[in-house]
Amino acid sequence: MKFFVDTAEVKEIEELAAIGLLDGVTTNPSLILKSGRDFKEVVKEICALLPGKPVSAEVTAMDCPTILQQAAKLSKIADNVVIKLPLTMEGLKACKKLTGDGIKTNVTLCFSVSQALLAAKAGATYISPFVGRHDDVSQDGMALIEDIVQMYGNYPDLHTQVLVASVRHPIHVVQAALIGANVCTIPPKIIHQLVKNPLTDLGLEAFTKDWAKTGQVI
Ligand code: G3P
Repeated sequence: MKFFVDTAEVKEIEELAAIGLLDGVTTNPSLILKSGRDFKEVVKEICALLPGKPVSAEVTAMDCPTILQQAAKLSKIADNVVIKLPLTMEGLKACKKLTGDGIKTNVTLCFSVSQALLAAKAGATYISPFVGRHDDVSQDGMALIEDIVQMYGNYPDLHTQVLVASVRHPIHVVQAALIGANVCTIPPKIIHQLVKNPLTDLGLEAFTKDWAKTGQVI
């Protein structure tokens, strides 16, 4: 499963990229607001940090012609920009056109299997079902992922990648991998949580103490 990081904080992306864990980045208007940065500048910086790896930048228009105009501007920022589109008929229309022009797309704010089917038919590169927000309204976010993965598997000619988004804890990441999602976009804090286990810490502490008692060095 590919790991994308879900943030527009350049420093956090740099730290994780240095470990070699990142296969891409996703941003959205809320993450751009949180960064306090100029949208196009921060996308350019992120793209340069991860050359050749997909960086999602979201359009803000709702009508197809203006979406396409914004997509043209965003695509010019860097070769690895992926255009993030709303899951509406206008967004799907733009997706079909952009896909036809060879531009990678990420259809976002997906909350149903039917929406995921439409996005695949529009040729989306990625579909972003929001599991955390689904859970927030007492729906089963991971069941949605399971259904989408199963549905896409019925049609080998559908090439849309399932990109699990709105991840709120490590179990979302584990479940996404067990289901076989293609990508999980993860907040930086949760990526760091994935490695933590108190038994590992206790074991390392004991090994270190016992090694010190040997009086040896490697
Ligand atoms: O990529 C989508 C993600 O940023 C939304 O997360 O926690 O606001 O639902 P959240």
